[in-house]
Amino acid sequence: MGIKAVIFDLDGVLVKTDRYHYLAWKRLLAEYGKDFTEEENEQIKGVARIKSLEILLDMKKIEMSEVEKINVLRKKNNWYLEYAMKIDEDDVLPGVREFLELVKSNGLKTAIASTSDNAYIILELTGLMKYFDVLIDGYRVKEAKPSPEVYRVGALELHLNPEECAVFEDSRSGVLAAKRAGMKVVAVSDNPIDEADKWVKNLEGLEMSILDFER
Ligand code: G6P
Ligand code: MG
Repeated sequence: MGIKAVIFDLDGVLVKTDRYHYLAWKRLLAEYGKDFTEEENEQIKGVARIKSLEILLDMKKIEMSEVEKINVLRKKNNWYLEYAMKIDEDDVLPGVREFLELVKSNGLKTAIASTSDNAYIILELTGLMKYFDVLIDGYRVKEAKPSPEVYRVGALELHLNPEECAVFEDSRSGVLAAKRAGMKVVAVSDNPIDEADKWVKNLEGLEMSILDFER
């Protein structure tokens, strides 16, 4: 059975938003007198908002009440949106539009599977929304990646079996989510991700053969 649809993670695969998530977390930790490096940020890439905060509090040994957590998450998201509101077509990563056009012109379906509640706004600001048949975002699922839920719901809405879907992901938690859903996965990252079936640094110059997988 061949690949009939391509499902994309959004942050860090199609748009440079991962940088803005990082800057917003860094600004938050600075308020607690803590530094936050890009290397440390790798641990929360692709991880849901509340879970990211829990990992960071643990990493930086910060105590926080439940009420304060809600407050700081709101604050972090406002800062993220402050940065993200400046996003436009130029923040789309190299090769993304060309690859989406190639995939569509070959008759494949496309979907976004993101755990972000901000996915729709980013797709609108970048003009990417028109390329997708299906959008699954943080509002549509209960469980964040690495749970397979977001990918399973994506396949259901595409009316396809998981093995007919190929996924592009930049984070380990995202790769795990897609593998657990039974899909083929291309990692889009500076360094390989072990659990993925293939690995590319970005979408630049990709051809349809990237969707050929051994069964
Ligand atoms: C994506 C990003 C994460 C972010 C998560 C939730 O997976 O890669 O960095 O924490 O979405 O996004 P949100 O916009 O809802 O805080
Ligand atoms: Mg991502």
